[in-house]
Amino acid sequence: MTGTRDVLGADAERSEARDKVTGRARYAAEYRPADRAYAWPVPATVARGRVTGVDDRQALAVRGVLAVLTHENAPRVAAPDDATLAVLQDDRVPHRGWYVALVVAETLEDARAGAAAVRVSYGTEEHDVLLTRDRPDLRTPEEANGGHPGLRERGDPDGAFASAAVRVEAEYALTALHNHPMEPHAATAHWGGDGTLTVQDSSQGAGVVRDVLAGMFGLDRRRVTVVSEHVGGGFGSKGTPRPHVVLAVMASRHTGRPVTLALPRRQLAAVVGHRAPTLHRVRLGAGSDGVITALDHEVVTLTSRVREFVEQAAVPGRVMYTSPNSRTVHRVVDLDVATPSWMRAPGEASGMYALESAMDELAEAAGLDPVELRLRNEPAAEPDSGRPFSSRGLPGCLREGARRFGWQDRDPRPGVRREGDLLIGSGVAASTYPVLVGPSRASATAEPGGRHVIRVNATDIGTGARTVLGQIAAQALGVPLDAVRVEIGSTVLPSAPLAGGSSGTASWGWAVHRASEQLAALLAEHTGPVPAEGLTALADTRAEAGAAVPYARHAFGAVFAEVGVDAVTGEVRARRLLGVFAAGRVLNPRTARSQLTGGMTMGLGMALTEGTTRDARFGDVAECDLASYHVPVCADVPLVEAHWLDEDDPHLNPMGSKGIGEIGIVGTAAAIGNAVHHALGARLREPPFTPDKVL
Ligand code: MOS
Repeated sequence: MTGTRDVLGADAERSEARDKVTGRARYAAEYRPADRAYAWPVPATVARGRVTGVDDRQALAVRGVLAVLTHENAPRVAAPDDATLAVLQDDRVPHRGWYVALVVAETLEDARAGAAAVRVSYGTEEHDVLLTRDRPDLRTPEEANGGHPGLRERGDPDGAFASAAVRVEAEYALTALHNHPMEPHAATAHWGGDGTLTVQDSSQGAGVVRDVLAGMFGLDRRRVTVVSEHVGGGFGSKGTPRPHVVLAVMASRHTGRPVTLALPRRQLAAVVGHRAPTLHRVRLGAGSDGVITALDHEVVTLTSRVREFVEQAAVPGRVMYTSPNSRTVHRVVDLDVATPSWMRAPGEASGMYALESAMDELAEAAGLDPVELRLRNEPAAEPDSGRPFSSRGLPGCLREGARRFGWQDRDPRPGVRREGDLLIGSGVAASTYPVLVGPSRASATAEPGGRHVIRVNATDIGTGARTVLGQIAAQALGVPLDAVRVEIGSTVLPSAPLAGGSSGTASWGWAVHRASEQLAALLAEHTGPVPAEGLTALADTRAEAGAAVPYARHAFGAVFAEVGVDAVTGEVRARRLLGVFAAGRVLNPRTARSQLTGGMTMGLGMALTEGTTRDARFGDVAECDLASYHVPVCADVPLVEAHWLDEDDPHLNPMGSKGIGEIGIVGTAAAIGNAVHHALGARLREPPFTPDKVL
């Protein structure tokens, strides 16, 4: 055993970096089975109604077109739990963009031309797509996403608010936000004649895709193989199977050919989920010392009529601050819209925008520094559950961030700093994300010659997960990193949960750590050379990772922002973003920094550039491509710094890590909004803060 130096915690470069930049890494649409055909879906062009007829004659006359699938001839499937996957099963159009046909052809171009030639007629019905605060049909759901209760109430929030010395009541509105991973959703499906199915899918979890496809197509799970070896981003939108993979399998079964379906970006908004728009009302009551006595956060949002998904944006109010009297409630309305779903830090990103903006307003009303206000409201235990925190790094993040950012030099007065045409301001907001972990299996094999192989159906969606799993194994085995090979992204490997909820490294890593330790013990006992078939240890963390814990476990952070607002054009530019996070032990600083700054950059988009408008008449989202949906580009991204505290939390997992994939986005939009207020002296409450809102 070598291990003179810690492999875990080292700045290891991504093990697949060269494969990615040289094009060797294959993505789902890049598998080329012999005789492969291509599919192109046809989305509904009405907002609600029924398909009354599909005229496929012109499409079938297009050169290379092999088939046109509709609800009349597509393979029948068993009803999935997720009704967004029940495509081409009936004539119903629940929202604009719902798929009504699929064209399969010899080439991508033929399929696209064929899709353009399909003529669909509809019987339209009245549609209703607009979210407002005062809709009479708003309801409080039993559960919001993630299994959180729709409503939680403690004490007397109304009474405490009414009698508070300092009161803030504010409404915030966030537009819908959309997942636009660099690699749009794609799948290559091969329906074998022998009743087997092989699918390469761009997914955050091949295991879920395998199980859902097996159920829908009536196959034994063991006859279905799903591969997600390289994935170009997902941000939650690939966390569940999406219609493209179902359509690809239908097309392969219908034509007897392997079929690739890569979704055009313009169709994503309707079929891969989005962050639902949320309307917030926050009421904070405090004593003259700034200590909160009442916290009331109401979230109004929408879901589709296809499947219920409620953005759990009031949940962070149950975690963050002292609040003896509290109400956190979600209210939702079912509309004729595409089904919302996960987008990086669902719940926290939206909810903390509102709560942390309101905290800034409270600081101003109480005449307190916003860092100091937050420090005064540190709870002794998690307010909603009463459970002690396993660790709570927020005060440390606020202090360290203030020091690094130069917060002590800040003049608290809003609207007084000017550099030419620019009004300058700075702001701060807190960040949080829960610690999630799921049971996983993994195997560790020693091969003759001193190599080791780790096998686990984990997914690397661009995070560096593959690399970090190698580090965890190398550390536990006491071998150098280059003596470990990691195989992930296939259902033929030991089963593992999806890459979601910032839980991947903890979940898979725990099993990898365990298998590697077991293998190290096997090797220590073993005498003589390693046999040709190798020595293997298999671990399953069901007992440990599934166990209930008596602690509230969350990562925390503090994000500081400096903005310049052009008083002539109204353009807001972030000049500096600085985040300090407390997320347990950081296992690879290089890939961790990339996750944190990436999240903060996504928060920058949420604050300044991203958003969609709902067309009430046509039921559509207007911004469906990257020319109109503005994700930040390099010129928009300022100096973004991410730092972290050394946090030693013994109540997590053997690596001592908390998730880092999502926390970076949380709080960033509020920090920027608070800086905009500090610059302007006026409070904007409806991001993105585009020039039309500033002027
Ligand atoms: Mo993430 S939104 O939990 O995939």
